[in-house]
Amino acid sequence: MSPRRPIIGVFDSGFGGLTVLKALLELVPDAEYAYFGDTARLPYGSKSVETVARYAVEASHFLESQGAKMLVIACNTATALALDRICAAAHVPVVGVVNPGAEAASSATRNRKVVVIGTEATVSSHAYRKALEERGLQAREKACPLLVPLVEEGWVEHSVTEQVARIYLGEAFADGFHDADTMVLGCTHYPLLKPLLRRVAPDHVSIVDSAESTARAVSAHFQELLPDSNSVEERRSAPRLKFFATDSTEKFRRLGQRFLGLPIENVEHVDLKE
Ligand code: DGL
Repeated sequence: MSPRRPIIGVFDSGFGGLTVLKALLELVPDAEYAYFGDTARLPYGSKSVETVARYAVEASHFLESQGAKMLVIACNTATALALDRICAAAHVPVVGVVNPGAEAASSATRNRKVVVIGTEATVSSHAYRKALEERGLQAREKACPLLVPLVEEGWVEHSVTEQVARIYLGEAFADGFHDADTMVLGCTHYPLLKPLLRRVAPDHVSIVDSAESTARAVSAHFQELLPDSNSVEERRSAPRLKFFATDSTEKFRRLGQRFLGLPIENVEHVDLKE
């Protein structure tokens, strides 16, 4: 990649972070992107803090070695469990998904009661609850571990997924949270389920997509990275994308385009030595 425009490094445990990249491409088209999917070691959502932090720091170093001038931790689990460790190890600005998601929930809610859905590890870390409570909101967190494999199976409009979502959301919007008016999608895979979740969630609920809110946060930071010397043509030319995966590049291409909504080319295999 030529260094004409700043490279944003986007990190996720696998394919899901491509929903964040999709939002970034819409809001920050004048960047180059290096996306790292740790497909050989996913899922992160069922792993411990120690393991996720170690993997995430390795990935961040890799993206910096590719010239990234900013890191976006697209993975909710990695952000929730390891953002402080990633920031301490990085030499460039780091944006995670939890604070932008909490900020967007804070703007959306009227009664200050919010439900967050995510992986087991994200929910156990209470990172979203802490971020929401800091903003004066009450939060109920609900782990929905079956949704990631259902999305990866491509069952985004399947009756089984709908049934599973009804059970999870029924439990989330219970016991004092019937009237929560906002739900945060605290996992990279859930934006693909937005139409289904819209049908299943109570009608009065606003859905906050942390991928979109993160892209807005990155957009604000990114302007500071742009060299004044960049010509209008350079800024307007299509963003360039490079992908790295730790497992099969063919599988990354195939599954990834569902998340990104675009054909994926230019995938390189990397082997991060532990
Ligand atoms: N990327 C993860 C997240 O957003 C979901 C997939 C996984 O568990 O690795 O939490």
